[in-house]
Amino acid sequence: MEDLVQVLSKIKMPTHDDLLVGTETGDDAAVYQLNEHTALILTVDFFTPITDDPFEFGSIAAANSLSDVYAMGGKPLLAMNVVGFPADLVHEMLADVLKGGYAKAAEADCLIVGGHTIDDPEPKYGLSVVGIVEPGKQVSNANAKPGDVLVLTKPIGTGIITTGCKQGSSPPDVLRGAVENMATLNRAAADAMVKVGVNSCTDVTGFGLMGHLRSMVRGSKVSAKIRFGDVPVLSGAWDLLQQDIVPGGTFRNLQSVSDSVHWHEDLTEKQRLLLCDAQTSGGLLISVSQERLQSLLSELDAAGVATRAVVGDITEGNPGEIHVTA
Ligand code: CO
Ligand code: CO
Repeated sequence: MEDLVQVLSKIKMPTHDDLLVGTETGDDAAVYQLNEHTALILTVDFFTPITDDPFEFGSIAAANSLSDVYAMGGKPLLAMNVVGFPADLVHEMLADVLKGGYAKAAEADCLIVGGHTIDDPEPKYGLSVVGIVEPGKQVSNANAKPGDVLVLTKPIGTGIITTGCKQGSSPPDVLRGAVENMATLNRAAADAMVKVGVNSCTDVTGFGLMGHLRSMVRGSKVSAKIRFGDVPVLSGAWDLLQQDIVPGGTFRNLQSVSDSVHWHEDLTEKQRLLLCDAQTSGGLLISVSQERLQSLLSELDAAGVATRAVVGDITEGNPGEIHVTA
């Protein structure tokens, strides 16, 4: 993905007065103002199967795609299927993938209204999503303020667990926990965040907690402190990590943040890898002022968001830097 960033840097990105959020800070979605009441949110996401169950894959892929709208503080309205599927598996499996996607979109009150399918030897599925937000109420990843507190709404470790699953090493209950986690919409967390009013947000996906936090601190021109011990981890992930089960993306994430993250010397290689684990459909990482922290935590609780972990702070200091303590 760093390669992609380099390629894109050679292309002049469009700017426009009505483009409220573009590509500058690697935000989760674009936001375009239509009139004084409404801005559009646009995003697309798709990937290869993460579990053997096609329905689960469909619902996780849809939850993940919808998440980028929630991370902007928006409400998803419409979506299109993005499908790559091998012709010989279409009848057998694709219907179940789509059923999972439609069910998850329905849960989000988002209408899937079409899509596009190509013949592809490796199955892929996701959604392009259109949402709305009131102009000025969008929550970007580039507005974290020194003194803010960082709140994470899902445990991490899905990359390790799904990799363990592909290798036949993840116990069924461990996989079950990860699947439930990935299929959970970030809707309730986003509703709570919008109600309270927060400074910044991103969802935690492929670049891992550290990678997405780095985009936030770079975009916001601030620094951050994370406490390893306060980061919630899915049950079973640590055991798999001890068996050296680590996805390739997680190694690459650790490498890619090495110039920005200062690890406390007591943190082991495995602990560092865990914080960089590539997530699928991870939680929201919210930067909220100290004054609003308690109301955010109680709104998350009231909305039924089980994980509401206070994992660190935004600080002044070298912009784009992250310090991780034990
Ligand atoms: Co995202
Ligand atoms: Co995304």
